[in-house]
Amino acid sequence: MSVGIDEISFYTSNYFLDLRTLAEAQQTDPEKYYVGIGQEKMGMAAPDEDIVTMAANAAMPLVAEGAGERVTTLLFATETGIDQSKAAGVYVHRLLGLSSNCRVVELKQACYSATAAIQMACALVARRPDTKVLVVASDVARYDLNTPGEATQGCGAVAMMVSANPRLVEIDPEVGNYTEDVMDFWRPNYRNTALVDGKYSTKIYLKSLKKAWENFRTASSLMFTDFGHFCYHLPFGRMAQKAHQHLAKLNKCALNAEQLERQIEDTLLYNRAIGNSYTASMYIGLASLLENCQQNLAGQRIGFFSYGSGCVAEFFSGRVMDGYERWLHRDQHRQLLDARQELSYEEYLQLYRYPDPRDGEHHDIPATTTTGRFRLAAISNHKREYVVC
Ligand code: HMG
Repeated sequence: MSVGIDEISFYTSNYFLDLRTLAEAQQTDPEKYYVGIGQEKMGMAAPDEDIVTMAANAAMPLVAEGAGERVTTLLFATETGIDQSKAAGVYVHRLLGLSSNCRVVELKQACYSATAAIQMACALVARRPDTKVLVVASDVARYDLNTPGEATQGCGAVAMMVSANPRLVEIDPEVGNYTEDVMDFWRPNYRNTALVDGKYSTKIYLKSLKKAWENFRTASSLMFTDFGHFCYHLPFGRMAQKAHQHLAKLNKCALNAEQLERQIEDTLLYNRAIGNSYTASMYIGLASLLENCQQNLAGQRIGFFSYGSGCVAEFFSGRVMDGYERWLHRDQHRQLLDARQELSYEEYLQLYRYPDPRDGEHHDIPATTTTGRFRLAAISNHKREYVVC
């Protein structure tokens, strides 16, 4: 019996800042962003959007028309937690109308935890093949203004249904892991923005790739040349390009630069327009590959490299199923990205600086033109109130 990803859907805010606008405000050459880091736009969450509304919006198509009935577990991966105690997934569970017999838990390890969720989901489904596990990953990436990280902000959520005999991607059981206690990127509980040692983080990312790959090779007979495509964690597109060249070099791969680029280019398209969505980013990269690759990917092996600062990394593999293209939400995703509204620099600052109420008073959150079905309507007595639009 095979186990893996049966369906995938993502969501991002209705608002974005073009990195040319940021470059102009910062008097930086826009090519540094467009070419140097390989990013064009970054999603900006509105005051009435957060990890809960984005996750519920991403997951809604996967549970429509009774499809959520067999979901016995909801795993919510995030590093943008809204509560130290209650799992954000419990709100999503209600908004989606899932069964009261479905368990819910939140997972954290920087950008890596969605991969832990996928592996746990596969194990749960392998034990009970008649059930499904809904994995959601949702994040808002925020750095301080006027720092090198600012251009790598973004926001987004991805939802994946994990089941037996999946229609999209079967996940192989062999994995390679690497963990090391490092301070490359972190966000103490009292901060809204991440702290980062940017250059160091890129070095640790590459080191972890090498170590996780070596560990993967001790568990799996698959070699570099067995993979048609690779999905990397995507803090920014150029990071994946560097990582792929690094892995190819480690494997003394004979492919030239253009051929290597073809193995990852389709994974980068959506993230170039959304920015870093932390836990969601590698899986939005998978959706981007499945929905934009001109070749039929059926039967091809995909290599996945998941990285979470701090750090935990994992290399694993999957195989694309026959007929996968029939089960994608391609049109919906393209419409979502095409319909977004561009922000001016001043509007971006307004969203960035929107106050985060902490006083326990009643605060109505102004309704924006968010396209989603769910919104955060108020924070009252320290409780978040979500509504269905
Ligand atoms: P920086 O230091 O300002 O940028 O920010 P730079 O000076 O290194 O320039 C970037 C690239 O643009 C360079 O290319 C420049 O040459 C090029 P490279 O040498 O790297 O090939 N460049 C230009 N290209 C064309 N035209 C120009 C031009 N000017 C320069 N005019 C940095 C880079 C990564 C430090 C910053 O973006 C940052 O701090 N980002 C946040 C941290 C990050 O994303 N780290 C990635 C690895 S860690 C990770 O992925 C985990 C994470 O997602 C968090 C989690 O796990 O939860 C972040």
